Amino acid sequence: MNYSKSYSAWAVAAAFFLVIILPVRAADPSPRQRLLLDFGWKFHLGDDWGLSERLDKAGVNPGPAGRTFGDANWRTVNLPHDWLPELPFDPKADDSHGFKPFGPGYHSNSVAWYRRTFQLSEEDRGRRLMLEFDGVYRDCRVFFNGYFLGHHESGYTGFRYDITDLANVGGANTVVVRVDASQFEGWFYEGAGIYRHVWLTKTGPLHVAPDGTFVSSEFAGNVPEGRATIHVQTLVQNSEITGGRTRVTVACEIRDPKGESVAHCARSVTMGAWTNEEVLQNVTVSAPALWSPETPNLYKLITTLRVQDQVVDRTETEFGIRTIAFDPDKGFLLNGKFCEIKGTCNHQDHAGVGSALPDRLQYFRVSRLKDMGDNAIRTSHNPPTPELLEACDRLGMLVMDENRLLGSDAQNLDYLSGQIRRDRNHPSVIIWSLFNEEDQQTTPTAARITTTMQRLVHELDPTRLCTAAGNVGNVFQGVNSVLDVRGWNYYPTAVDAYHAEHPTQPEIGTEQASTVCTRGIYANDKERGYVSAYDDNAPPWATTAEFWWKIFAARPWLSGGFVWTGFDYRGEPTPYSWPCINSHFGIMDTCGFAKDNFYYYQSWWSDRTVLHLLPHWNWPGKEGEDIDVRCLSNCQEVELFLNGQSLGRKSMPANSHLQWNVKYTPGVLSAKGYKDGQVIAEQKVETTGPAAAVKLTPDRASINADGEDLSVITVAVTDSTGRIMPVAENHIEFELSGPGKIIGVGNGDPSCHEPDVYVAAQPGRTVALKDWRIKHGASYPRPAEAEDKVDASGWQKANVDSQGGPLQPGETAVYRTTFEATPAMLAAHAVIINFGMIDDEGWVYVNGIKVGESHDWTAQPSFAVGKFLHEGVNSIAVSVQNHEGEGGVNKGVSLVFLEKPVAPAWQRSVFNGLAQILVQADQQPGTLTLTARSPGLEPATLNINASAVTPRPFAP
Ligand code: GAL
Repeated sequence: MNYSKSYSAWAVAAAFFLVIILPVRAADPSPRQRLLLDFGWKFHLGDDWGLSERLDKAGVNPGPAGRTFGDANWRTVNLPHDWLPELPFDPKADDSHGFKPFGPGYHSNSVAWYRRTFQLSEEDRGRRLMLEFDGVYRDCRVFFNGYFLGHHESGYTGFRYDITDLANVGGANTVVVRVDASQFEGWFYEGAGIYRHVWLTKTGPLHVAPDGTFVSSEFAGNVPEGRATIHVQTLVQNSEITGGRTRVTVACEIRDPKGESVAHCARSVTMGAWTNEEVLQNVTVSAPALWSPETPNLYKLITTLRVQDQVVDRTETEFGIRTIAFDPDKGFLLNGKFCEIKGTCNHQDHAGVGSALPDRLQYFRVSRLKDMGDNAIRTSHNPPTPELLEACDRLGMLVMDENRLLGSDAQNLDYLSGQIRRDRNHPSVIIWSLFNEEDQQTTPTAARITTTMQRLVHELDPTRLCTAAGNVGNVFQGVNSVLDVRGWNYYPTAVDAYHAEHPTQPEIGTEQASTVCTRGIYANDKERGYVSAYDDNAPPWATTAEFWWKIFAARPWLSGGFVWTGFDYRGEPTPYSWPCINSHFGIMDTCGFAKDNFYYYQSWWSDRTVLHLLPHWNWPGKEGEDIDVRCLSNCQEVELFLNGQSLGRKSMPANSHLQWNVKYTPGVLSAKGYKDGQVIAEQKVETTGPAAAVKLTPDRASINADGEDLSVITVAVTDSTGRIMPVAENHIEFELSGPGKIIGVGNGDPSCHEPDVYVAAQPGRTVALKDWRIKHGASYPRPAEAEDKVDASGWQKANVDSQGGPLQPGETAVYRTTFEATPAMLAAHAVIINFGMIDDEGWVYVNGIKVGESHDWTAQPSFAVGKFLHEGVNSIAVSVQNHEGEGGVNKGVSLVFLEKPVAPAWQRSVFNGLAQILVQADQQPGTLTLTARSPGLEPATLNINASAVTPRPFAP
């Protein structure tokens, strides 16, 4: 593919603009703010209000979609949030989604509502305001201040809405999301809910468009030496509605990985009101520090927009300078050198949290993969969360960035272009994958669709090629005939014939292996749903680790490939089904604990010296029986010993393993690894004593008190000398004190049905409100009869516990009652008033102060009233307007006095000695103390230090 043409068109276009070299003044303030909108959402699971949409009039959506809906008795959650881990397992539910009872057939568990109210200040007047969603699974409808904003189906692509016109500047604003996960997009665990971040972005009217910056680097002849040309494309939006033409200067500054300014450029353009302008600039950087997995050097582009010397916007974009190429003979070249892709495909869920990963877990997972020698991730089978790409950029991990579905219809192309525009600045991304294993892949129609998709990608990103994950052998017809790079899902024995017939097409192993293994298990067990961890088992379409890697390692033109998968994921239990609820394909389990194959890949992928023995050496009852002992190592020779006796020294064949049959005797099985005759590594597995103690080991003992950071803690059961007991299954109970919380637990057991999350209970006392009086015909919404001191003793008695009535169509009324609050009641953590029904519309007053409104007779509104109450007699008044049919306050009214949420009793069994617990910091600094106890075991206590930091800006 020749991209120099599009670059030269770029250069010509750029030449039409005046070039001014202006250094940027760092201190100039910019009106841009990006606020995290993750904390304090109200959440309700259940389709209790249907769609609740008004299609006849704007801005008056009823029920939870409305601005004034009373959601006080909904639960409070923080994002990212996936509600599936809270559901039980159900053997009748869909196996591919991990037996969670949602989706087809489970409607009430598949629809949920989220609501969040935030404040905008007077300073926000005149700003453009944007709500940005990184990903919601799935099919969501979004409302803002009662207006419908939009509908977004894909569970994997980001979307945003301009809310400027609808905003209540200087007051409260409410965003509402209805999520409908009753259909699936994939055949694997996908989660459900707002499982990625939400942002509130504020800019001046003249600003850099969302995803409006594209920065890429180029070296003459694609040889990464000397100067790099940095192409900067900036889409400027002028959303001033009125006004004449504005001259805006787009200034770019490039900072090197040390933060030093290394290049500047600027151009001015004149823009009319409500127009967009694409500004193209080139700048050069001499002898740049190149980006690679080993040297993840990141540059920063700072884009500043100025009007008459005033900064009107500033953005920062991280990028890397590197060259990439896919060559049909030489394979993948990074910075001019062969770079074999030693990759893994991964879905996006993790133990404990489902698909709602705090950012820190992305870094944890990428680091675990890097430890194995993995240098690439395929984001199968969907666009990733932005933080995964950020982690890959910063830690050094190549990415195949995958689109969900084959499609050249408007919606799919829109999703695809959103993905490319969002992700194209990431140096980690080296190739786009257009789809995975499409049933139509060999048809002419699929080829035409692919051509259209590929054309769009090249237009938006002339720096990268496209592939797709094809599960066909030596087949060219269909999509393979048009793709830039042929992708190989399986069929490793067909690669030579295909390559011989299509020698000019680059190739890549998009998905290989699918080896099945369970951590710490050494015999298949259908009943329990376990597969042996020896590299022996693979479904019919798949292979062992050793089989595929030997083929790929010997053929550089294949560019290397991606193993299915790095981590186990929920769903797709293979080869067994229930009680197994997750996959066994991972080289690591769902927690990131290594299975034995981890060391196979580490031997041949990393440059560490590796010497690993399997299985464990706890086989009571098998004394004298043959045990299949294997050694995974990259040493030239390995010698095995049992209790100090040599069992022979063997040479290690490349990309392979060694095997011995050893008669079991308890004790120490050990190995020495040799290079050039010298011992370079020693390893042993020992027969342990019985389980005696719990041990807690954090990945980080010091975390940031920012409300997001977390420590990933390994829970191990050890014998009395501290050796991990490899078959322990003890049940552990956890207790956390200090400013933080546990957000999930896991153990990697693919058949474990224990909960991953425990939801805090909030005990409360309910007091029914009785003795209501009614006065018909009052004005609304704020009649004198709703004021604090009103004597209603002469009014008619009202029955608020009936199912309907007594108001006639068009009638209004005021309902009143009083209740006496004691100091004990007022000491409650929260006080909520719950209405069974206010039919049709109602305005609720406590001591004459309005506490809420309801405009949907089907809702059960609830309002927080604690701060309006005082000791002694309090008045409650409801002004009601009925429209059609009968109306009134019905189905009961009560006050609920809630205590502080009680931390749930977190617990989990260890699986083959290990479990994992995720502990997240609050925004207060302090010490988090985690205690783990199990009957008969020595307990463990761990302190995590949460240090004071400024949290990233979040919406109030
Ligand atoms: C592939 C597919 C993956 C997964 C895998 C299991 O064919 O692309 O999503 O299902 O098989 O082996």
